[in-house]
Amino acid sequence: MTNIAVFASGNGSNLQALIDAIGRGALEAQIKLVVCDRPGAYCLTRASQARLPSFMFYPQKYQSKAVYEELILRQLRERDVEYIVLAGYMRLIGPTLLEAFPQRIINIHPSLLPSFPGKDAIGQALAAGVTLTGVTIHYVDEGIDTGPIIAQWPVFIDPGETRESLEEKIHAVEHELYPKVLQEIFSKRRENLD
Ligand code: GRF
Repeated sequence: MTNIAVFASGNGSNLQALIDAIGRGALEAQIKLVVCDRPGAYCLTRASQARLPSFMFYPQKYQSKAVYEELILRQLRERDVEYIVLAGYMRLIGPTLLEAFPQRIINIHPSLLPSFPGKDAIGQALAAGVTLTGVTIHYVDEGIDTGPIIAQWPVFIDPGETRESLEEKIHAVEHELYPKVLQEIFSKRRENLD
């Protein structure tokens, strides 16, 4: 069993996919903490419905990223968290957490990186008029969606595709791919530890 913390800022449908995968035994992990930077975000409701502890913080209340990340780090250490899993967390991870979790922070992004990094990757792909986009899972480094790529999956943009229909296709891929890839990473790590 791998102890993880899931960081989210919004709807939390990927958090839900991880909760569900754990529930059916497809992902051997335990969510020790849900970290959220937005009061009222639906990911917090999902966490409480699943009886998961959550930590909500107001970034503006702190002097710097280092200060609030130190606070988060303390919570992660208290709970023996081994991996940070980002699921729609809308902030850049700073040196405090990056140094404490080297190659242990993973993100999912709704494009085929390095194309369309940053905010609104789905809108960027539609605006660019490409016929192919997708989903990327990668390790997090100090850049915006620049870390080493772990897995990618293509999603075709059909003629007449709307934002809604594309979002739906991308989310469906994300919800299947994220638990699967995390399970692979965690089981490989366990093999190496044995
Ligand atoms: C996902 O599309 C993910 O790839 C991106 O943010 C979105 C989060 O969606 N990083 P949700 O909150 O998990 O529904």
